[in-house]
Amino acid sequence: MAGLRVPRDRLPAALRRLLRAAGGRRAVHLPRGEPGRTAALYVHWPYCEKRCSYCNFNKYIPRGLDEPAMRSCLTQEAQTLLRLSQVQRITSVFFGGGTPSLASPLTIATILDTISQSTHLAGDAEVTLEANPTSAGASRLAGFQAAGANRLSIGIQSLDDSELRLLGRTHTAGEALRTLEEGKKLFPGHTSVDVIFGLPGQTLASWVRALEKLLPLCDDHVSLYQLTLERGTSLFKQVHQGSLPMPEPDVVAEMYEAAREALQEAGFRQYEVSNFARNGALSTHNLSYWQGSQYIGLGPGAHGRFVPLGEGKSLREARIQTLEPDNWMKEVMAFGHGTRKQTALSEGDVLEEILALGLRTDVGISHQGTEVLLEGSSCAGLSATNPPQFASGVVGGENIPWNPRALSARSSRAGWTVPPCEGSWRWLVVASNPEDIVATL
Ligand SMILES: C[S@@+](CC[C@H](N)C(=O)[O-])C[C@H]1O[C@@H](n2cnc3c(N)ncnc32)[C@H](O)[C@@H]1O
Ligand code: SF4
Repeated sequence: MAGLRVPRDRLPAALRRLLRAAGGRRAVHLPRGEPGRTAALYVHWPYCEKRCSYCNFNKYIPRGLDEPAMRSCLTQEAQTLLRLSQVQRITSVFFGGGTPSLASPLTIATILDTISQSTHLAGDAEVTLEANPTSAGASRLAGFQAAGANRLSIGIQSLDDSELRLLGRTHTAGEALRTLEEGKKLFPGHTSVDVIFGLPGQTLASWVRALEKLLPLCDDHVSLYQLTLERGTSLFKQVHQGSLPMPEPDVVAEMYEAAREALQEAGFRQYEVSNFARNGALSTHNLSYWQGSQYIGLGPGAHGRFVPLGEGKSLREARIQTLEPDNWMKEVMAFGHGTRKQTALSEGDVLEEILALGLRTDVGISHQGTEVLLEGSSCAGLSATNPPQFASGVVGGENIPWNPRALSARSSRAGWTVPPCEGSWRWLVVASNPEDIVATL
């Protein structure tokens, strides 16, 4: 998983009002205990071989890439931001992109080495590398493993060659499946695949056939993304010019439902809106985003959320690194890091993130997690014994199924009620005024 964007304007108006009332712009003082001392770490490799027709991630097609210079800047930025955060332990590392499998294993090893020298990186910490089938042959994958990666996320996208051509991919379905086989041999139980559905021309029947082909070959983790038509991409243009037919929204919703059923039958747990795992192969890195943990972002355009304790601050900040790689490198060489934007997060901001991200997971949001994150803020006392402003729980008996169209959230006068939980109704209420609460445990 790469950039996490939770645009405030996408939240229901009722929730935005409640968040304003609950938090305003006051700052959240995060605890100085263990949670503030650990972080996940994301490394952005911004280069790709070719632009895919649907993708608007921060990526560049390099002309004469100076990899040693890029490597040196990534390690320098790692040292700076680790010093700034003063984290004592990195819980997971994710090399995302762009196409990090185009980087050399030496670059991956050097960055991991720098992290280990600057702070503690446990031997069993999850270290994921995103790989495109064309840039990840067996020997390269072995090189990444020797460099310290222990989890692979392969961008398969589709198993239909005409769909892959439409998406502008540089690989065939056969090459994708070969990479998957090689990945499974080297990273058994730790090889994930990315697949996209809702493609132009795709039907429910062709999608179900694709799943029937893919699922028996999968390892224990699948990320399933509905195609987003991103403004500025060539696919967006073709669809809006009328040259490509998109499936109807109801058909796309049926595709999602069909995939959820097929994955469930194959033994997968849907632990997040787009993520499925079996045999406990949940991605600890992505979970840390959804649980509101600290994370440090390195590389052009990377995002981070951490407390810069080294600057004597005690507030969590959102950081965005400079987007364009050459400018980012110049800044790193001049200042040790390429942070372009740095924003102290208010109590409302943190609460909003906990809600918007926590609601994506099947376990929802627990008091335990949020109390730690909101310690020191006016929301800190919101617990089971002091429930009026912030309460959650499971009400059994009503079998209300997960609603994919609402992406698990519904707004009400009092806040959001949240499905699902295996045959029970899980709810959460956020309200500034106890009289607004319309449901209790
Ligand atoms: C940032 S990409 C990087 C991975 C790698 N470069 C690749 O393409 O395989 C991560 C994943 O996001 C998904 N993705 C990117 N753009 C998307 C879009 N417009 N709609 C849906 N999924 C998208 C793809 O499944 C992709 O594998
Ligand atoms: S989907 Fe992956 S390979 Fe394609 S342009 Fe985006 S980041 Fe690069």
